[in-house]
Amino acid sequence: MNPFSLTFGKEPVNAISRDKQMNEIVEGFVSDNPEFHACMITGVRGSGKTVMLTEVSAEIGGNKDWIVAELSPERDMLLALAAELSNRKELLQVFRDAKINLSFLGLGLEIDSEPPITDVVVALDRMLGRLTDKGKKVLVAVDEAVPNAHVREFASQFQIYIRKGYDVFLLMTGLYQNVYDLQNQETLTFLYRAPKFEMGPLNRALVARQYQRVFDIPKDEAAAMARVVQGYPYAYQVLGYLCYKRQLPYAEVLDEFDAYLAEYVYEKIWSELSGKDRDVVDAMAAAESGKVGDIRGLAGMSSGEFSVYRDRLLKRGLVASDGFGYLRFTLPRFGEFAKSAY
Ligand SMILES: Nc1ncnc2c1ncn2[C@@H]1O[C@H](COP(=O)(O)OP(=O)(O)OP(=O)(O)O)[C@@H](O)[C@H]1O
Ligand SMILES: [Mg+2]
Repeated sequence: MNPFSLTFGKEPVNAISRDKQMNEIVEGFVSDNPEFHACMITGVRGSGKTVMLTEVSAEIGGNKDWIVAELSPERDMLLALAAELSNRKELLQVFRDAKINLSFLGLGLEIDSEPPITDVVVALDRMLGRLTDKGKKVLVAVDEAVPNAHVREFASQFQIYIRKGYDVFLLMTGLYQNVYDLQNQETLTFLYRAPKFEMGPLNRALVARQYQRVFDIPKDEAAAMARVVQGYPYAYQVLGYLCYKRQLPYAEVLDEFDAYLAEYVYEKIWSELSGKDRDVVDAMAAAESGKVGDIRGLAGMSSGEFSVYRDRLLKRGLVASDGFGYLRFTLPRFGEFAKSAY
């Protein structure tokens, strides 16, 4: 079976360790005196946000005092959380003892002697308060958060539960722009302070070692493959997948590699760029030197205008600045893609 996978969001069998970041997130939540109650995982498409969220959730969920609930940002999240908690067999008695009647909300838990709670905000307040009293901690995980009404409503209520001292925690992933927009919602100050973990490139030496092991190839060949993928997780999977499937050296699958990246990631990214963003990308692709001065000249922009678009690309994680006065693409062969797309 091919040890590489092209499926987004699936935990790969040959994952390259991001233990340092994972531990920082896990420790930040679980220590007796938690460093934060909310944190965000960000990065470009295919950078491994979902995989990280899944790993952190599994790690924390393995602890008996923790309840991990993954919620979709596309539905009523408060109700979904109440439903999720009330569905846990091990919690049923806790809520029953607290006489929390959820029958009105359609969540089953009926208590004859108590009137049903009619507001989900109140219900959750009592449920989370009770869980905190019982030493239980709740982590809510939200993949692909967007600044929509569901997420805003949930986060603003969650902020209140945190303020009340409940042991509730929030982990969200999102593309840069969405995380940025969420963090800058005036009413969600706790998100503004929430630390961001950026899914940067995978360790190049680890990538090479993994290729070397799977394909049984010389070290320099594996290193060359690692150079091609530039630590970008999706590219690491695609290149491995193709070499394995075709049983060819990497140099002979590069066209197909480009086609996969284009179809599954780059075209989408391209479609989200404005005309001026594209002008800068194209100028970057054309300027061999990578020097800001050369790129700006090719783009034909004033330095004020140029810096606006450069910053936009930096913020999206598409471009990195290597030392003073140089720019490069973070995604492998993105320049080649841009030349043909422009
Ligand atoms: N640590 C890792 N080591 C190796 N491969 C990884 C790692 N993390 C993710 N991948 C691979 O990279 C690809 C993208 O991962 P994932 O779906 O988590 O990205 P994402 O950032 O959630 O993307 P999107 O923004 O599209 O949701 C998947 O094929 C996955 O198997
Ligand atoms: Mg994802």
